[in-house]
Amino acid sequence: QEQPAIHKGLAGVVVDTTAISSVNPETNSLLYRGYPVQELAADCSFEEVAYLLWHGELPTDDALLVFEATERENRPLDPTVKRVIDDLPLTAHPMDVVRTAVSVIGADDPDAEVSTPESNLGKSVRLFAQLPSVVAYDQRRRQGLELVEPHEELDYAENFLYMTFGEVPDPVVVDAFRVSLILYAEHSFNASTFTARVIASTLSDLYSAVVGAVGALKGPLHGGANEAVMHVFDEIGTADRAEEWLDAALAEKRKIMGFGHRVYKNGDSRVPTMKAALDALVEHYDRADLLELYTTLENAMGERKNIKPNLDYPSGPAYSLMGFATETFTPLFAAARVTGWTAHVMEQLASNSLIRPLSLYDGPAERHL
Ligand code: CMC
Repeated sequence: QEQPAIHKGLAGVVVDTTAISSVNPETNSLLYRGYPVQELAADCSFEEVAYLLWHGELPTDDALLVFEATERENRPLDPTVKRVIDDLPLTAHPMDVVRTAVSVIGADDPDAEVSTPESNLGKSVRLFAQLPSVVAYDQRRRQGLELVEPHEELDYAENFLYMTFGEVPDPVVVDAFRVSLILYAEHSFNASTFTARVIASTLSDLYSAVVGAVGALKGPLHGGANEAVMHVFDEIGTADRAEEWLDAALAEKRKIMGFGHRVYKNGDSRVPTMKAALDALVEHYDRADLLELYTTLENAMGERKNIKPNLDYPSGPAYSLMGFATETFTPLFAAARVTGWTAHVMEQLASNSLIRPLSLYDGPAERHL
């Protein structure tokens, strides 16, 4: 009997159509609703990109004003959410705090079970507006700092930095942060987005889909890589030790964090844009030493394995230069990707089919007690 083909890791399998983004390894490009992500990163606010992902078009000036006002109104956290975060031990990873907070925000929403397009869009905007508050609240709590309430005159990127650091940093820093958010926002059927779609396909609620997506993003083969890259940098220390470190790590068959990609085999389309943002930060903070380590490891990995960096490679050190604690890097990714996750949940629901693949049994043959 002929065995069915197994597609381990669903590699190369086309599961459904999507109009949200296209990842094109052949042309090394990434388009959000048809627009090259580099152009969006050069010209748009993160709010405009979020609107584009949800609505399919960039906002008109009037629509943007309304959307920005709604986002700003939704920023403050409900006391229940703050209380639950306060009760979580400081040993919990910040991604566990994000996961728990999304769950509490959902449990607190009287409309959680209402699944109309309007209601789901409202929930998406609420999560978009509140995740920065969650991440910054948790970060300052860990550092024993006074909490900073959202500032409604600041845009999304400025306010996120303001709530984390207590002030809006230099425009170079704000711009690098904005660019990172835009690059992280969406990437078709990656593991966390697919998780969200699987959960949505059972007609569960949007919050549950996002909780699952946060869990999938946490792993170091996916979003957790940006944090892991910084651990690698810390482990290596200085550029002169990079080659020796890499040879030892490869000899132990370690996966080098921040390198390789399931879809892009010849470089990640997002890297040049994020690398330019990193270069600006390196100059701003006068940290040529960090850039030297970055370049030495990248070149050595190219020579040894011909494997190129992915987005997490430049974004890890960029977030570190901005002053974020290493364990916050993946929550930053989650705050950005919630736009893509929720756009996909709404797209899945618009033409739903339960996602339920098959498996090939290879356990013991039928037997009896
Ligand atoms: N370090 C060392 N070797 C690697 C790496 C790496 N980072 N990535 C791939 N390889 C090797 C792998 O060992 C394999 O070699 P061989 O054929 O000799 O066994 C070959 O390249 C093919 O790799 P693969 O594991 O079959 O490729 P994949 O498509 O299953 O994996 C990946 C993709 C992202 C899981 C993998 O490249 C990896 O583990 N990278 C490190 C983690 C990382 O940076 N993840 C972030 C991904 S992109 C952005 C995001 O999602 O956040």
